[in-house]
Amino acid sequence: MSGLLAGKRLLVTGVITDASIAFSVAKLAQENGAQVVLTGYGRLSLVERIARRLPEPAPVIEVDVTNDEHLAGLADRVREHVDGLDGVVHSIGFAPQSCLGGGFLDAPWADVATALQVSTFSYKSLAMAALPLMSSGGAVVGLTFDATKAWPVYDWMGVAKAGLESASRYLALHLGKQGIRSNLVAAGPLRTIAAKSIPGFDQFEDAWTERAPLGWNLTDQEPAARACLALLSDWFPATTGEIVHVDGGYHAIGA
Ligand SMILES: NC(=O)c1ccc[n+]([C@@H]2O[C@H](COP(=O)([O-])OP(=O)(O)OC[C@H]3O[C@@H](n4cnc5c(N)ncnc54)[C@H](O)[C@@H]3O)[C@@H](O)[C@H]2O)c1
Repeated sequence: MSGLLAGKRLLVTGVITDASIAFSVAKLAQENGAQVVLTGYGRLSLVERIARRLPEPAPVIEVDVTNDEHLAGLADRVREHVDGLDGVVHSIGFAPQSCLGGGFLDAPWADVATALQVSTFSYKSLAMAALPLMSSGGAVVGLTFDATKAWPVYDWMGVAKAGLESASRYLALHLGKQGIRSNLVAAGPLRTIAAKSIPGFDQFEDAWTERAPLGWNLTDQEPAARACLALLSDWFPATTGEIVHVDGGYHAIGA
């Protein structure tokens, strides 16, 4: 098999529809020579149906990142399909409705805690669950939404992403000795299930389509997926703790 990821074995989380960023990552990775194992959360039969739309069949393992048993059994479940992992893609985010859409001042801690467990802490949990299968040269890649600013309506998800960005740097620090990299892609707004669950998300859509220097396509997941592939590949061997913006250049300009 030839391609950017020839011979690489990847674990890709976060596929729920074919609009999921993770679906584009899995598709592009297979097209570029990788062997892909998916994880699914909740509606497994739906994830399996979506997985059949990939160029190659991909096994689906059930992983709820808040379930310790799922995490503890992950390495063994993955070993049923591949003998090791060269890369792990974390494409997971969730916040209860109270945490989004302007509810920042009123969201209760229980809901905020859920958002942080699923969207932030899970980056570390997933990496540790997969670590027994990884070796030097391996890579962990996650998806963020630029957390250096307070956005309208993003609220506690923004805080969760700020934590994710920090967690990625700490993972880079702690796994660096083992030769494992941790990097994030900061994507611009894309119309996925997660995005549609944010009341007022259209404000991002308008801002990006009007102002991103390169322009921005709200339904094209491939640019973000391409960056994930690059970070999973051998072409960023000395890069870790980094955030690559795939946002049409929006982060670089004044509002
Ligand atoms: N869509 C955007 O505009 C955008 C922009 C920047 C970053 N992101 C990030 O990209 C990532 C992927 O989101 P997406 O936009 O592709 O949406 P999506 O809805 O397709 O994917 C989100 C995934 O998270 C999974 N998930 C939720 N709770 C989980 C749990 N407890 N255990 C395991 N998986 C769980 C869902 O099953 C789903 O597959 C998220 O981290 C999101 O914050 C999205």
